[in-house]
Amino acid sequence: MKFFVDTAEIDQIAELNDLGMVDGVTTNPSLIKKSGRDILGVTKEICALVSGPVSAEVTATQADDMIAEGRKLGQIADNIAVKVPLTWDGLKACKTLRDEGLMVNVTLCFSANQALLAAKAGASFISPFIGRLDDINLDGMSLIEDIRIIYDNYGFETEILAASIRTVNHVLDSARIGADVITAPPNVIKSLASHPLTEKGLAAFLADIEQTGQKIL
Ligand code: G3P
Repeated sequence: MKFFVDTAEIDQIAELNDLGMVDGVTTNPSLIKKSGRDILGVTKEICALVSGPVSAEVTATQADDMIAEGRKLGQIADNIAVKVPLTWDGLKACKTLRDEGLMVNVTLCFSANQALLAAKAGASFISPFIGRLDDINLDGMSLIEDIRIIYDNYGFETEILAASIRTVNHVLDSARIGADVITAPPNVIKSLASHPLTEKGLAAFLADIEQTGQKIL
């Protein structure tokens, strides 16, 4: 399973990238706002830092305008994936941009039928939002399961990019189901390393070696 990091914070991307944890990056208008950076400038910087796909989202709502924005974003670097919303216009933009050879990530997916349409429009990635479904007492993981079954039934090559990941269990369940990619905030990726028994065991080992008075260096 590939790990994309869901942020526009350069230092956090760089830290994870140095560890080989970053297969790609996703951004959205809210993350750009949070970064305080210019969308074109920060996207260019991220594209230079990582070799995998970097999703940059259009801000237009009409297909023609999304296509124009997508073409401009696509000129930033070869690893841009243009992110379009899962609307009818977004699907039109997806088809055109894919036909032109750009990667496209169709975002704001909340149903398996939406994911089916995105695959038929040739999306490179479909982004079902797990956490936002959980927020309204629906089951985000069952959407990932449904999309996995449907894409496998028909051999669609669109990659399932599990998004709106909030917890380590979202990551685990996505891996079990067979999502192709998860995109998660840096803190969620880093917290995958944490386990209370690791911390407890390490504290005991350190206490024991200290009592022996031994040091390696
Ligand atoms: O990739 C989409 C993701 O950023 C949405 O996450 O937590 O805002 O629902 P969230």
